[in-house]
Amino acid sequence: MSDPILVTGAAGFIGYSVSKKLLEQGERVFGIDNLNDYYEVSLKEARLENLRPHNAFEFMKIDISDKDAMEKMWAEKGPFKRVIHLAAQAGVRYSLTNPHAYTASNTTGHLVVMDLCRHTEGFEHFVYASSSSVYGANTKLPFSVKDPVTQPISLYAATKRSVELLSESYSRLYRMPQTGLRFFTVYGPWGRPDMALFIFTKAILEGTPLPVFGGGEMKRDFTFIDDIVSGVIASLHAVPDEEVPHRIFNLGNTRSEELMDFIRLIEDATGKKAEIEFQGMQKGDVQQTYADITESRELLGYNPQTTIEEGVPKFVEWYRNYYGI
Ligand SMILES: NC(=O)c1ccc[n+]([C@@H]2O[C@H](COP(=O)([O-])OP(=O)(O)OC[C@H]3O[C@@H](n4cnc5c(N)ncnc54)[C@H](O)[C@@H]3O)[C@@H](O)[C@H]2O)c1
Repeated sequence: MSDPILVTGAAGFIGYSVSKKLLEQGERVFGIDNLNDYYEVSLKEARLENLRPHNAFEFMKIDISDKDAMEKMWAEKGPFKRVIHLAAQAGVRYSLTNPHAYTASNTTGHLVVMDLCRHTEGFEHFVYASSSSVYGANTKLPFSVKDPVTQPISLYAATKRSVELLSESYSRLYRMPQTGLRFFTVYGPWGRPDMALFIFTKAILEGTPLPVFGGGEMKRDFTFIDDIVSGVIASLHAVPDEEVPHRIFNLGNTRSEELMDFIRLIEDATGKKAEIEFQGMQKGDVQQTYADITESRELLGYNPQTTIEEGVPKFVEWYRNYYGI
């Protein structure tokens, strides 16, 4: 059996889904997470419960920004030569009121993990999460990894762009192989309660008003979790070998969908009508996202398969089972 892969944020939506797939593929996974209460901890625990039966899974509760604790963990449980770093303080809106949570978990946390990797002999690959939000105020569509990204419109986006630059410096300094993944609005079973699909489904099923920001005019490139998992695992195996071994990819569905069409699919899947309350644009939100995935197709063989017509009902089915509603 190969060395364990360290997955940070293993109790989170994407970290859990990636860990599950890696275990199914016969890999060993060492998962870490601080299980913070940004959203319901019971959901994070329930995800972990699904991973625990696997003999090849081990978990430790730890904060990635705690350098001393992380060094101790690495010395006792590592060293790890392959790392998938997904732990972060996510969410654009929360960053308006809690900016410090973002610098601690995202920027400091990234440095702590990356620096441990760099001091590991024979280190192979550091794959980390970035975000479509780095495109910020860009208006050229679709968003390409070749576009300049210097106009973040939220602190969350700024921390994600910052970690890309931290990684670039380490790849230049130490030839450390790294891959940054800009995820585009990921959704699906075991998803995050602070995200649109979750909030909309809950409101529609409970018959409460549904706040729709941006007057319903927003467009998003919604990416189904299984496609993201395939992209993350493909990127783990595609180790960059350039002079500066650092690549950045878009992982989107490469379709920009109207928010209102998305809501209609939730109505269809639940069999209930939404009581929509249109509201203005929220600070920090971008009007549209749309991924150009040319490089991801070429170098990772990434090929998203799931339309929102297929993906939304899968989420609604999971939600109804999980919450018994
Ligand atoms: N879901 C999306 O649409 C999306 C889009 C773009 C980028 N991302 C990025 O992908 C990654 C995973 O996102 P997700 O949707 O699974 O979010 P999530 O919140 O479900 O998962 C993140 C996990 O990290 C953990 N965590 C946070 N701070 C930590 C710390 N200091 N130490 C240890 N653990 C910590 C949390 O407890 C959580 O379980 C994040 O980096 C996020 O910014 C997600």
